[in-house]
Amino acid sequence: MSGLKDDFQRGIDYLRLSITDRCNLRCVYCMPPSGVVPSTHKEILRYEEIIRIVGIGAGLGVKKVRLTGGEPLTRKNVSFLASSLKKIRGIEDLSMTTNGTFLERHAQELADAGLDRVNISVDSFKPDRYREITRGGSLDSVMRGIAAAEKAGLTPIKINVVPVRGVNDDEVSDFARLTLSTEYHVRFIEFMPSGDNDYWSPEKYISTEELKGKIETIAPLVPVRIRKNGPSRYFRLGDARGVVGFISAITHHFCADCNRLRLTSDGKLRPCLFSETEIDLKTALRNGGSDAELERLLRLAIKVKPEGHNIGDALARKGPLALSGRQRRPMAKIGG
Ligand code: 5AD
Ligand code: SF4
Repeated sequence: MSGLKDDFQRGIDYLRLSITDRCNLRCVYCMPPSGVVPSTHKEILRYEEIIRIVGIGAGLGVKKVRLTGGEPLTRKNVSFLASSLKKIRGIEDLSMTTNGTFLERHAQELADAGLDRVNISVDSFKPDRYREITRGGSLDSVMRGIAAAEKAGLTPIKINVVPVRGVNDDEVSDFARLTLSTEYHVRFIEFMPSGDNDYWSPEKYISTEELKGKIETIAPLVPVRIRKNGPSRYFRLGDARGVVGFISAITHHFCADCNRLRLTSDGKLRPCLFSETEIDLKTALRNGGSDAELERLLRLAIKVKPEGHNIGDALARKGPLALSGRQRRPMAKIGG
């Protein structure tokens, strides 16, 4: 790990950019069915503003950038942004987290623009269930999107799954089995309490340990070391081509390996997904702030990055989770 060190010796070299809070889907765990008012054009950062911030971040050691949303591909001309970011000296790795529904149309131009990889969120391979979870999404378009991404070389293809008890937990082994026949990285993300709805509950949450138990009925999970994988832990099912990953946001303290800062679409730096703290870059950007001032704010965000979160404690107590306003921002506002 490299990049500017925070107070806990974590090198911060990864910036996640939420480029929009809009999404064409309404996943049950992320958004309420209706009534979400997306930010206006003026509220969200312009591409030039984002590019400027990444330039300053690169000067501080940021090497990896991920575009997220909402759904990043609901924003126009993302390829322009991608190519501009990839040209910044020091930016070695540019990736995107997407729901995949618009990838068929955009995969090749994004690859041509310099995008290296995509993570695609798919919570079910059953079309009806997929439609229910996403409140209207088409699995078929996602599958075509995945195929297009593979063809365009946006690899390794990473599939993100959020297992929720009683919703898609019966598909966990099917997802894992996908790694037997493909080179995909299938990653299970522990279901976290967030979002502006009360969908999360301790009963719906499934721990990594439990998931591993289900998957090991197929074959033993052999740990694999993948360099610079941040908080995910990877395993191979026997001699499978692909790998299975776990992002244990709650049970394991992945905080110790956290190498990232997040920038919300409205220009706030979030040192931690679960923390209250936000550092406003937009005001500085729009009031003629100098590069030195922006750099100071970026350094400040790294400085105040907390050592960890305590979401797991409430779960261990089986107590209610009292999340405050900002902790309840849905992923669409923070960028996952
Ligand atoms: N818990 C875990 N993962 C979530 N995501 C969105 N909301 C949650 C949540 N509450 C995931 C999406 C996507 C990534 C950006 O974050 O499914 O894969
Ligand atoms: Fe959209 Fe992702 Fe939220 Fe689903 S989880 S509604 S795809 S932003």
